[in-house]
Amino acid sequence: MVERLLANEVRLQGRSVVSLKDWSPTEIKQVLMTAKWMKANPKVAEIQYALKGKSVAMIFELPSTRTRVSFQVAIQSLGAAPVILDWQDSQLGRGEPIEDTARVLSRYVEALVVRARNHQMVQTLQKWATIPVFNALTDAAHPFQVLADALTIWEHVGYLSGAKLAYVGDGNNMANSYMIIGAKLGMHVRVACPVEWSPAADVVAYAQQEAEMTGGSIQVMTDPEQAVFGAEAVATDVFVSMGNEDSDAKRSQLAPYQVNAQLMAKAKPTAIFLHCLPAHRGEEVTEEVLEGRQSVVFDEAENRLHVQKSVLYHTLSEF
Ligand code: CP
Repeated sequence: MVERLLANEVRLQGRSVVSLKDWSPTEIKQVLMTAKWMKANPKVAEIQYALKGKSVAMIFELPSTRTRVSFQVAIQSLGAAPVILDWQDSQLGRGEPIEDTARVLSRYVEALVVRARNHQMVQTLQKWATIPVFNALTDAAHPFQVLADALTIWEHVGYLSGAKLAYVGDGNNMANSYMIIGAKLGMHVRVACPVEWSPAADVVAYAQQEAEMTGGSIQVMTDPEQAVFGAEAVATDVFVSMGNEDSDAKRSQLAPYQVNAQLMAKAKPTAIFLHCLPAHRGEEVTEEVLEGRQSVVFDEAENRLHVQKSVLYHTLSEF
């Protein structure tokens, strides 16, 4: 089984994941295929020891439950050691330049997992590091989350190319990342946001151009019902992202974008509901939808572990 997996794979050693813009459709599909295989085969010895003797540093500027734990478990389950740095307790919290941190940590560990407020910070880290850098969420992108979401759609909808995904709410890092991965995988992605909270125009333009090459499509609109009509997967995220929690004006502008039973009824009857969590029940999604039969949010959370194992394996192992 392992031989078959490796025989088909694309060579990804040494690659970073800062944005999925840098990854080709074939590379993303390979990561998803391996993740699916690893999920079904968690105890294969070649996988359990694939990163034996290696270390991966994890640095979080912002809070995390899923990303922190799933990366730590993924690293350990491949035989490597996670080294967890608290931002404030490291010299980064006292202003040590990111360029110096990147070069120093590159001498100790084999990869860096970083969650930062500012996307540019992770780009700078990648520029100066001599090891792979993995974006664990920035203001612009959440690539591992949408890899997990793609695996979840594949599992529940049955296919990715041609699948219809609606994202409703804030045009944030999740909206950006859904458009990018959707375009790469030939999906039809509709994003519904108020004009003031639309996703970045350059990301929309990039994704639309990519979608032309894969047979997918990317549409941004203001009407949530239009976005959700006929969708096979409906996704949302918190209305106000980490660090901006006191923005009540934004919450009221986004209130009509709540995913509730009425909105889900516009999607296909078999549609799934996705949320990267944590969710604010009664705000961007109702309790009824989050806990309802269409919700796959805990499969989605589990799949973080499998896609991260897959990326760590492909980028860091020496098979
Ligand atoms: N979805 C997600 O990234 O969760 P955490 O913030 O808990 O890591």
